[in-house]
Amino acid sequence: MNSDMHKTKTKTIFKILPIILLIFTHCNNNRQSEDTERSVMQYKDMHTFSKPDQAVVRHLDLDIIVDFDKKIITGKAAYTIENIKGVNKIYFDSRDLKIEKITLGKEEKDTKFQLGAFVEYLGQPLEILIEDNTKIVNIYYSTNPGSVALQWLEPQQTAGKKHPFLFTQSEPGFARTWVPCQDSPGIRFTYTAKVQVPGGILVIMSAENPTQITPDGNYNFKMDQPIPAYLLALAAGDLQFKATGERTGVYAEPSVIDKAVYEFAEMEDMLLTTEKLYGLYRWDRYDVVVLPPSFPFGGMENPRVTFVTPTILAGDRSLVSLIAHEMAHSWSGNLVTNATWNDFWLNEGFTVYIERRIMEELYGKSYADMLAVLGYQDLEDDIKKLSADDTKLKLNLTGRDPDEAMTNVAYEKGALFLKTIEEAMGRERWDGFLKQYFDTFSFQTMSTEKFVEYLKNELGNAPDATELLKQIAIDDWVYKPGIPGNFKVYSDRFKQVDEQIKHWKQGTPVPDLYVKEWTTHEWLHFLRHLPEKMSLEQMGELDSSFEFTNSGNAEILCAWYLHVIENKYTAALPALEKFLLNVGRRKFLKPLYKAMVKTEDGKEMAKAIYSKARPNYHFISVNTIDEIVGK
Ligand code: BES
Ligand code: ZN
Repeated sequence: MNSDMHKTKTKTIFKILPIILLIFTHCNNNRQSEDTERSVMQYKDMHTFSKPDQAVVRHLDLDIIVDFDKKIITGKAAYTIENIKGVNKIYFDSRDLKIEKITLGKEEKDTKFQLGAFVEYLGQPLEILIEDNTKIVNIYYSTNPGSVALQWLEPQQTAGKKHPFLFTQSEPGFARTWVPCQDSPGIRFTYTAKVQVPGGILVIMSAENPTQITPDGNYNFKMDQPIPAYLLALAAGDLQFKATGERTGVYAEPSVIDKAVYEFAEMEDMLLTTEKLYGLYRWDRYDVVVLPPSFPFGGMENPRVTFVTPTILAGDRSLVSLIAHEMAHSWSGNLVTNATWNDFWLNEGFTVYIERRIMEELYGKSYADMLAVLGYQDLEDDIKKLSADDTKLKLNLTGRDPDEAMTNVAYEKGALFLKTIEEAMGRERWDGFLKQYFDTFSFQTMSTEKFVEYLKNELGNAPDATELLKQIAIDDWVYKPGIPGNFKVYSDRFKQVDEQIKHWKQGTPVPDLYVKEWTTHEWLHFLRHLPEKMSLEQMGELDSSFEFTNSGNAEILCAWYLHVIENKYTAALPALEKFLLNVGRRKFLKPLYKAMVKTEDGKEMAKAIYSKARPNYHFISVNTIDEIVGK
């Protein structure tokens, strides 16, 4: 142990802490209107060991070395803190970190610290002795090669195959696996960083970024806007930068950059459109980095530089709603941030709603309607699988993995709720409300309760208040399971797809189906509504006319491969295997492996492919697929 502090004492503190916090939360609710931007912790976050009402971080100076050979990051996290209650301990979150030494102040006076017991999903509390007037806490640490937030790629796992690559994924609770931190979405801090890497590597962070590789491998970063730890991010590799506009641009490996620039050419327009709807963009630049295909998500809204999967490079700009989504987070999520992962819908539901509004502005209503219908289909699927409690917008994830918040309930039910309000209030008034909401609460934390109160207040002031409140049924949406009312999401363009499917079922040969001008979304609707069981002959006809197996569009491939698996269409199995070996995006892996393990020979195939693919997948995907296929 690094400290002489008594464990029993610590345990008692942990036992009574929830009670103290409850009382504190209660008192605080009564004076919420007095909240200043700097105040924190009106909310109990069950996914952090930190106690920000007592002593909280305000700024981080990070100084790290990235060692690609050992697959570790070592360095120093120097925090400027505020000792709110004049306590003698400050708490951080740490998971799989080796804490070497901790000092206080600029003069670096040694202090005692202790890592507490490991708790599943949370890691360990890092308890540090401080003084009343302590302003700076310096933590010397190193990561572990297995750190969840870090994916280290060998050169052959990159597009260029010459240089290694590293990227981080901090949301929801993984920042603590690469930087000791107060890892709660309600705690914001500014940061600077010094990062050292080997030659030939460009580093970018969720901060002001360089656009060129430095000869000495040293990089400096500055983030002046306060962010929560889950938005700490770093990517390092053979990256190149190209602008797509005045404030927007793309980072990617040299062989990918031009394709990415073409795909994301509309980003500048998107930014202007979003500003027109919801007010000024507060983060200076908006860039995107295209990561190698093992990135487990579609996108991650790291401030100033969104991280994306290369699987959205379809060649025809048809998957750019994902960029609209991550850009929208610059308002919903990054500017006004969910207080805890129980309030995740405030991040994602708002963002899906805004994403659709952006897409409607840029591509018209019929396009946005298609996205809404596909989203609704996903929501219905999830609602069938989830417990009733998990279909409420406000979640209870106490003792659970915060990853479990990541369902279409937060995304699609959240967006439907906002759409319901829009329809009741009228678009103009609702847009005004949202703009004001982002202004009022910018760089602040939002809980579900606080949002509901704010909304009810706003509605209460309207002349038609009673009628509106009845129409919107806020509490049903937020605190009750399922989808309230009978909701209609409808797409004209999909109606035409449905007709073609009907013709085909009635005997029209595949080549005679009218599919002219169909976009990715019509194809997705088509694929989702083909019969589950099809003959090999039917599969072959569809494939030879529409070339699904060789599609360059990952969304289409995934939807098609589900039929390939279900109907044992062996002609496409090599392509399926290639896809699973190359792509690590969990959204695609999960349904495909699930479909495979439904039958005995499918299970064999899944195991064989997974054993080859697993070492290339990110922990987040491995965690999910292990449960489906087994280790
Ligand atoms: N913030 C999320 C990704 C996320 C959520 C990571 C929870 C970790 C925990 C991001 O904005 C997102 O929603 N990405 C989606 C794409 C989007 C278009 C729905 C994804 O990655 O699939
Ligand atoms: Zn999102």
